[in-house]
Amino acid sequence: MESKSLCYVFATLIFSYFVLKHILKFLSSGKVKLSLPPGSMGWPYIGETFQLYSQNPNTFFASKIKRYGSIFKTRILGCNCVMISSPEAAKLVLVTKSNLFKPTFPASKERMLGKQALFFHQGDYHAKLRKLVLRAFMPEAIKKIVPEIESVALSTLESWDGRSITTYQEMKTYTFNVAMLSILGEDEVLYREDLKRCYHILEKGYNSMPINLPGTLFHKSMKARKELAQILAKIISLRRQKKRDHSDLLGTFMNDTEGLTEEQIADNIIGVIFAARDTTASVLTWILKYLGENASVLQAVTEEQEGIMKFKEELGEEKVLNWSDTKKMPITTRVIQETLRVASILSFTFREAVEDVEFDVLVTHYAIAFRKMTRGNIPHKEVDVIK
Ligand SMILES: *[C@@H]1O[C@H](CO)[C@@H](O)[C@H](O)[C@H]1NC(C)=O
Ligand SMILES: *[C@@H]1O[C@H](CO)[C@@H](O)[C@H](O)[C@H]1NC(C)=O
Ligand SMILES: *[C@@H]1O[C@H](CO)[C@@H](O)[C@H](O)[C@H]1NC(C)=O
Repeated sequence: MESKSLCYVFATLIFSYFVLKHILKFLSSGKVKLSLPPGSMGWPYIGETFQLYSQNPNTFFASKIKRYGSIFKTRILGCNCVMISSPEAAKLVLVTKSNLFKPTFPASKERMLGKQALFFHQGDYHAKLRKLVLRAFMPEAIKKIVPEIESVALSTLESWDGRSITTYQEMKTYTFNVAMLSILGEDEVLYREDLKRCYHILEKGYNSMPINLPGTLFHKSMKARKELAQILAKIISLRRQKKRDHSDLLGTFMNDTEGLTEEQIADNIIGVIFAARDTTASVLTWILKYLGENASVLQAVTEEQEGIMKFKEELGEEKVLNWSDTKKMPITTRVIQETLRVASILSFTFREAVEDVEFDVLVTHYAIAFRKMTRGNIPHKEVDVIK
């Protein structure tokens, strides 16, 4: 049962609505509207943030769903939201009516990662950054660092010798080290420990209330965030002095032809490391779990990997993995693809309704209205209503 609850896929999305606007709009239109879904809002502003993040988020969702059904309202990190967890509702938001929702994050997360990070934007700026990020992770860019990635993997394995580990934590460390390679290249060695320390602090405060007072997790995180930006500024200025081109992500961002400001570069580097680390570490953890549960697949993967090394040995070559070796791993590749297909990588994500959306979920008989957040793109006519 344990594994079943682990595997439980929560395609849960968080939405915000604006109660005042709802009431005003209701009064002014005179039209009967579907009401908001059931649920509790918790404390003013703080809402139910602690209930969600002080335990496994799945526990929070499970108890809410039991009480209110698959669609309920709550307040998280200062945002009024509607949470959905049924496949029908998720499909509506992500596929059939996706044009009515835009990606968003609570303001606290935006402040922590940096307002200029690509996931907080849409349109041309988003498209341009997305292209740059993808370029830095294309085979052309990754090819050259395969041996370095292998050596990170080997030293990670060595560090596990003779002790029991928490897989997800170890995978986060490993992913961080690999991310550093493809994002900052050789420059990272000097700053790795400082970067790691700052990230660790930032991460601890990532789900905290945005209360910037001395002593709060949020305050500590914001300080670490500042230090991260300073480290990056140092790396950037050293690179400018040396005038050498780099093919890593920082080099791509720094390319003059892209015209990015230093703040935009820093926000996006910090954001990409943050986004890449947790999701990748999560995939790796699932892979290990699935392999651990299926002896025959584990054996096939092991044989495939050992076969590659044996082949090199027979050719009298150095036992160092290179790009063309990674092309000879059909079984390993299938395990990765299958894991990406079945595992739930994120427990939930955020969307903001650009206008009110109503729908009846026939399966559950719930009528819900998605509402927009209290900040961001509120269309003009509605701003008037709020005033
Ligand atoms: C910088 O941009 C130009 C034009 O897009 C490109 O030809 C060049 O390879 C880029 N340099 C780096 C280091 O990415
Ligand atoms: C292991 O995986 C294979 C291939 O997907 C499958 O046929 C087999 O039933 C699995 N075995 C176990 C014990 O889950
Ligand atoms: C990669 O390794 C294979 C097998 O050991 C070898 O034949 C090939 O020459 C290597 N490629 C590069 C670019 O070093």
